[in-house]
Order: sequence, then structure tokens, then C-alpha cells
Amino acid sequence: VELEATEACARRLDRGDSLASFRNEFSIPPGRNGDPSIYLCGNSLGLMPRKAREYVDAELDDWARLGVGGHFRGKNPWMPYHALLRDPMARIVGALPSEVVVMNSLTANLHLLLVAFYRPTPRRFRILVEGGAFPSDRYAVKSQALFHGYDPDEAVVEVTPRPGEDCLRPEDVLRRIDEEGDSTALVLFGNANYYTGQSFDVAAIARAGQEKGCRVGFDLAHGAGNLPLALHDDGPDFAVWCSYKYLNGGPGAVAAAFVHERHHDDESLPRFSGWWGHDEKTRFEMGPEFRPISGADGFQLSNPPILQMAALRASLELFDRAGMRALREKSERLTAYLELLLEDLEGFRVITPSGAEERGAQLSLLFEPGQGRAVHRRLESAGVVCDYREPDVVRVAPVPIYNTFLDVYRFASILRESL
Ligand SMILES: Cc1ncc(COP(=O)(O)O)c(C=O)c1O
Repeated sequence: VELEATEACARRLDRGDSLASFRNEFSIPPGRNGDPSIYLCGNSLGLMPRKAREYVDAELDDWARLGVGGHFRGKNPWMPYHALLRDPMARIVGALPSEVVVMNSLTANLHLLLVAFYRPTPRRFRILVEGGAFPSDRYAVKSQALFHGYDPDEAVVEVTPRPGEDCLRPEDVLRRIDEEGDSTALVLFGNANYYTGQSFDVAAIARAGQEKGCRVGFDLAHGAGNLPLALHDDGPDFAVWCSYKYLNGGPGAVAAAFVHERHHDDESLPRFSGWWGHDEKTRFEMGPEFRPISGADGFQLSNPPILQMAALRASLELFDRAGMRALREKSERLTAYLELLLEDLEGFRVITPSGAEERGAQLSLLFEPGQGRAVHRRLESAGVVCDYREPDVVRVAPVPIYNTFLDVYRFASILRESL
């Protein structure tokens, strides 16, 4: 179906959407006059899969019925529960199951893997990061540099866009890695930037960094469940991500980490250890020496949050049913449709790159100073849920697993009236 700026076209696109029924699997928060809201905020907090309640209830029931016995005798025993999430999560990020573990929260996982993979020496101590990375990532890398005795302002190098440009040129990223590589211990990038929505080529950045002898890690907060990923083949050393955004795991949901297979049995990697990362066969012998499980599981610290995992399972099952390939195909069309409908509006500029290969679901609309917040308020009072990020950006993310083309059409009409 040709993309046209009409409601009839939006409805036609929805009728032809093979993923349309997935919307019914989610609770869509109400908007104005009892209608469902136009929820375009899955880049911040994904919606609740209806089954999440049933899955969480099942674990509460086992807790009520069995107490501590739930660890072994529950319907889904809690002891190996985290393994239920491993395969579906690995499929979403294109990794081997042994390379993925669901645990902790995002920034905590980032620190744990920085401990293992940021090994500065006086000649090679820098951390090269995308300019305008999410604040938590910047705090994390600066504090790691400080922890190792380096001046964070010298150690952390940001790759910034050219003057007057909003996004990084991919060739500039690779050139900076080449220029700074010899003094760089770690390259850390996102694969979609939270502010601009720009996505980066994981394989190219991993290769460029590793050719210069650097370790390479990714924060996939805005990529997991949004962009197709092939972490094993693309070869970064590690990655971390949260699951409350595109992965719909719920507020504060349990996060995940990837450790490439090539590091699985490397005993020289330093790590901050906990008993849940210890060899499962002998964990309960309570011995004094830590013997890690081979693979990503060996980075676990604690016994996991079962209720959070239950909620996330409900969403991962939907991803398995829909498939990342089909989701991405729809996502490209949804975002292209949004881009088309915004084309003739004035008062803002879309700063997200225009090609599908350099973005995920999100478009970022940059307003004149002071205007963005006011427009955002008007959108909200008209039943749209999207978010505002300082400075001056309204982020809009049609999410293929529950949004419709009509959502996008209605959003654009309301935006037109709000300007
Ligand atoms: C790119 C990125 N990194 C880190 C974080 C921080 O996440 P958390 O609070 O889960 O540690 C976020 C949160 O939105 C993010 O978008």
C-alpha cells in the first residue's frame, strides 16, 4: 500500500497489517473521553502485556501455596527460573543463549561489565563514547575512570557531531576510533541514541575498535526489541540493556547483559562476583572459592527477582510469536509514515536521520527553545502519550507490536492542531 497522508490510507495500512492482532495482547491506557490513548512512548515505558498479570499471579500463588518450596516445587520452579528468559532474549538480540543473562538493572550491569572489560593502562586508558550518551552511562564511565585512578575529563572522550549538525556521521565515528584507538581501552556506544534516535552500526564499530586493540561494548537500551541485532556475529565484547522500553517488561524491569562467547572461559577477566554466578552444581556446598559458571551466567550476583521475570516472560513470548524480522518491517513503515505526515508541518525539525538504516522506531522533534514543552503539554491534554526531553525535544515512537497506523495518523493531526 502506498503511503498517503489520509485517514483512509492509515486504515488501509492497518487492515493489511499481519501483526495487527498483537495490539489486543496489551493494555492500552485510556486517553480522552474513555478512548484509548495514542500511546507513542514505548521508547520510555512499554505497555503491559495482558498476560503479565496472569504470569505474576502464578508466582504469587506458588509463593502463597508453597513458601520456600516454590524454589523447587513451583509450577515454574524459581531456582532455574531465569533460564526461561534466556533463549527468547537471545533470539531478540541475535546471540547464543550462553551469551545472554537476564539480571539486575541496566546501569548496574554496565558497571559489572565495565569492571571486566575496562582495563586501563597508563598508555591505553581512554573510554570513547558517543557524544550525548544517556547521563547514567556518562556517570558510569566517568566514575569507572576515577575508580582506576584516572582523571575522568581526560579519560572519557566523546565523539560529537560536526558543528551545526544534530547527529554523528558514521564515517566520523569510525575515523575517531581510528585516531584515538591506540590510547583507548574501551569503546562504548549505544545502538540508538535516546535523544536523537540515531542508530549506529554495531558490527562496524565493534570491528573498528577491536582492530585498534580496544574492547567494545554497547548500551542497547533503545535498541533491544526495536532494532534487529546480531550480537554474536557482530562481535562486540559485551552489551547491556533494559527491558522496560521496547521489551515491555514493566517499570524498573529486570535488565540483561551479553558477554561474547570468546570471553566465556577467560579466567583473567576481573569480575565482581556473587554466589549466583558460581557453578550451579556446587553453589550450595557454600565453599569459600568462587568458581564462575561459564558464559554470561557467571556474571550473576544474586538470586533473581521472580515477579519481574514473570512479567517479562509474558512479553518475550509475544516477541517470539511475532518475530523481530516482521516487527522491524512494520516498524520501518510506521516510522516512515510518521515522517511523511510530519513533512509539511512547521515549528520543529526532525533531528533523527531520515533513512531506516540509521534509526529505529523513534523520531525526535526539535522545537525552538521554550516551545517543545508547551506543545508536549497540548499533545498530552489531547490524549497523546509521548515524552519531552531537555533540551527542546519531543520524542515520538510508534511501536510495531501494539501501535497502529491510525495512531500515527491521529498523532499527526493532533500535533498539527497543537502547533
Ligand atoms: C541509553 C540508556 N542508558 C541507561 C539508562 C538508565 O537505565 P536504568 O535506570 O535502568 O539503569 C537509560 C534509561 O532510560 C537509557 O535510556
